[in-house]
Amino acid sequence: MTAPLIVIGSANTDYTVVVDRHPQPGETLLGGDVTTGTGGKGANQALAAARAGGRPVLLAAVGADATGRALLEALGSSGVDVSNVAIDADAPTGVALIIVARDGENTIVVAPGANGRLDAESVAARVAELAGAGCVLLAQLEVPLAVVEAAAAAIDRAGGRVVLNLSPSRPVSDSLLALCDPLVVNETEAADLVAAPVDGPVPAAAAAAALLERCRSVVITLGGEGAVFAARDGGAGPVSGHRPAPRVEVVDTTGAGDAFVGTLAAELAEGDDLEAAVELGVAAGAAAVQWLGAQPPQR
Ligand code: RIB
Repeated sequence: MTAPLIVIGSANTDYTVVVDRHPQPGETLLGGDVTTGTGGKGANQALAAARAGGRPVLLAAVGADATGRALLEALGSSGVDVSNVAIDADAPTGVALIIVARDGENTIVVAPGANGRLDAESVAARVAELAGAGCVLLAQLEVPLAVVEAAAAAIDRAGGRVVLNLSPSRPVSDSLLALCDPLVVNETEAADLVAAPVDGPVPAAAAAAALLERCRSVVITLGGEGAVFAARDGGAGPVSGHRPAPRVEVVDTTGAGDAFVGTLAAELAEGDDLEAAVELGVAAGAAAVQWLGAQPPQR
């Protein structure tokens, strides 16, 4: 059976503490109570895709522990197909330690655990079994790069489409970038790629145009300013634009990018064009920042 949307990525337990401001190196701060939640960029994006009406199949790994079981139960009951998630008897479920300041900005440290042991060969084989023409593969970089590269090659052979969220940022090969349709980056990640500052819609549009030389389409997310997009072929030729975000009260930015990307991928898998998918992604990201934690409740 082919899957319209395959999500490859991390599944973590998130431990979040709210502080007045972020600590300096070497400094100890007192914060509020710890909140425990389900997270991981792969899991967050798969959940957002399911909530956008998609039918995501998640390829990920958790440990054989209570937090891994809780993650699978929460995702499975929210419409994510978790039947292909590996349970690793030798590694714990991934953990993310998240600090959120009063302005909503976060810092995150991830202990990958089972996520870091996903095997490229077996993931690519599963992608080849699940993929068909028009299938969307969504991935980020919290799992080994070799897994993403092998899966992207497999989906391309099957006639599918790669949506890559280059987060957390790290160097990737030109051959992987060339498959991206779209590559999704934030301003910092875009700046790394074009080696120039990207701050706001105008420089982002220039960066997107430059990145179009290296991938099939590009989306640059701009936080409270929405997102810009550019594609080589929008049907009648190249297409580009900016979709602003609605003004909302920001509680926590954790997972807002994931809500954007998961929604975008679900819409592309349903046949929407990039412009429409970006518009819905921006709305999902704006909804996500109004909630403490990476996986906001169903809207
Ligand atoms: O993008 C937010 C996510 O990053 C968190 O849920 C955390 O688990 C880390 O993966």
